[in-house]
Amino acid sequence: MRVLLVGGGGREHAIAQALRRSPQVETLYCAPGNAGIAQIAECVPIGTMDFDALTAFAADNKIDLTVCSMDDPLCAGIVDAFEAKGLRIFGTPANAAIIEGSKAFSKDLMKKYGIPTAACEIFDDPQKALAYLETASMPIVLKASGLALGKGVLICNTLEEAKSGVGELMMDKKFGTAGDKIVIEEFMTGREVSVLAFADGKHYKLMSSSQDHKRAGDGDTGLNTGGMGTFSPSPFYTEEVDAYCKEHIYQRTLDAMASEGRPFRGVLYFGLMLTANGPRVLEYNTRFGDPETQVVLPRMKSDIVDVMQACIDGTLDQVDLVFEDNAAVCVVIASGGYPGSYEKGKVITGLEAFQDQDAYYCFHAGTKLNEKGEVVTSGGRVLGVTALGSDLKEARANAYKAAEWVHFDGQYMRHDIGKAIDSVQ
Ligand code: AMP
Ligand code: GLY
Repeated sequence: MRVLLVGGGGREHAIAQALRRSPQVETLYCAPGNAGIAQIAECVPIGTMDFDALTAFAADNKIDLTVCSMDDPLCAGIVDAFEAKGLRIFGTPANAAIIEGSKAFSKDLMKKYGIPTAACEIFDDPQKALAYLETASMPIVLKASGLALGKGVLICNTLEEAKSGVGELMMDKKFGTAGDKIVIEEFMTGREVSVLAFADGKHYKLMSSSQDHKRAGDGDTGLNTGGMGTFSPSPFYTEEVDAYCKEHIYQRTLDAMASEGRPFRGVLYFGLMLTANGPRVLEYNTRFGDPETQVVLPRMKSDIVDVMQACIDGTLDQVDLVFEDNAAVCVVIASGGYPGSYEKGKVITGLEAFQDQDAYYCFHAGTKLNEKGEVVTSGGRVLGVTALGSDLKEARANAYKAAEWVHFDGQYMRHDIGKAIDSVQ
């Protein structure tokens, strides 16, 4: 089989690695890819939003299956563009990707179908939003409705902060048109868990649970980032939580989307908060999480191609999705200064230590090759060092050991990824 993967981050490196494990994949292309993906796929310099060039490449190169798991191209209709040309693609059509692309849509959906989530009000008029805040209790959460690179969420402790947040999102347009509409939402507390599911429009199959660490510094301090590390499975995702979510959240969401004429296929990401009153949906994404994928897919036993094909064909109920009974931890190694400004072009050494290793992976997120053929940094999050272990404790020790194998100037990482598991193990 000839496969084209769209994207070039750490998540895509983990997807590429899973595709490579499938005996069905003979040729793997990645557009645009990165220096790590280039070791296992042929990278082609086409942008992820250039649907004309991507579909032309797929047609010219007789691609049997294209895979896309990125919010911008999915919400902009990459799946629809491929299918209009008779090309087979794994991903979510735009009319269902709206579940991530519009928080106003997803909150309305949850309200209408009784899916447990934080209570909220939706506003497109800043004056009405400000008037509502006068009556609301603090803390409160403001969210830009549209796509904002995961940064359009403000947690406000005081009325003043909340009012200036409305100004930032709706009047100053800090996130552009993403802030034309905002969601003002009840503040909840609890542990967060990410659950990814494959879906075929009607049926779903759950992947193993995971947990992200979004803040830049140890002890959950500092600015929000795209994710500084993950572990899987989450010991907090208990059988009781699983049973509750199966009854109230997963199938109900798929049925709700189908009833709205937007059958969901692809990967549905449930961002959950485990509150004292039970699990609540924080957010939906229409794709694999990053860096959740880096700990979930290395633990997947099933052939990912079979699962993706079943999602496209509507036969997911016939697939047995199996995970290893082990654990994984991913430690992100970032450029000094991230998520603020940082330097690029630093030479990365030590990558060869990961060759021929079964239990260790170095997923590239922001890397490229320079003129001399050296691997250099090209982004804020640079590498995702992932290790397997028989349990979370062993996986964490392995991941931190392997994080010492690589070096570049100014690198930093968190030292407490997966530390929360100590309270349960
Ligand atoms: P979201 O993009 O909606 O997942 O929000 C990003 C992060 O903001 C989440 O991972 C939570 O840590 C936090 N958050 C979002 N909504 C709430 C809420 N209603 N209460 C408390 N924290 C929240
Ligand atoms: N790790 C969070 C996300 O992918 O949205």
